[in-house]
Amino acid sequence: MKIGIGNDHAGTTLKLEICKHLDEIGVEYVDFGVAPGEAIDYPVAAERVCRQVVNGNVDRAILICGTGIGISIAANKIKGIRACACSDSFSAKYTRLHNDANALCLGGRVVGAGLACELVDLFLNTEFEGGRHQRRVDLITKLEQEGSCE
Ligand code: RB5
Repeated sequence: MKIGIGNDHAGTTLKLEICKHLDEIGVEYVDFGVAPGEAIDYPVAAERVCRQVVNGNVDRAILICGTGIGISIAANKIKGIRACACSDSFSAKYTRLHNDANALCLGGRVVGAGLACELVDLFLNTEFEGGRHQRRVDLITKLEQEGSCE
């Protein structure tokens, strides 16, 4: 699995911690985010990574801003992206199991590095359950493409 990682200026410190963790666990990633001292608006940061996901150049995204919320709102505007802002383990696990999330959004001002790395592990290692959840994810896609579930 190849991960695209992105961040705005409020997510740089946590991004670096997560990159270190990905190196340690041997997960391949491409860093599309800004470096320390650089700034970028979070919608731009989200788009840079999410385009790579929908184009198939990377499998999933990890996105970091101050809260994880702004970057998740922006990411979810891109067709094919199912992004979830998470700050607890249950959500990180279930957004994979039930929503087939392909973008994990984290708040650099919300979660510490230890918890963030645990959330990343859950996001990477939990498989989508399918079954009745596939029907619901398909409805999200229909809503996205046709403007309605019905
Ligand atoms: C940037 O200061 C901050 O607004 C942004 O990182 C994010 O928290 C927005 O949701």
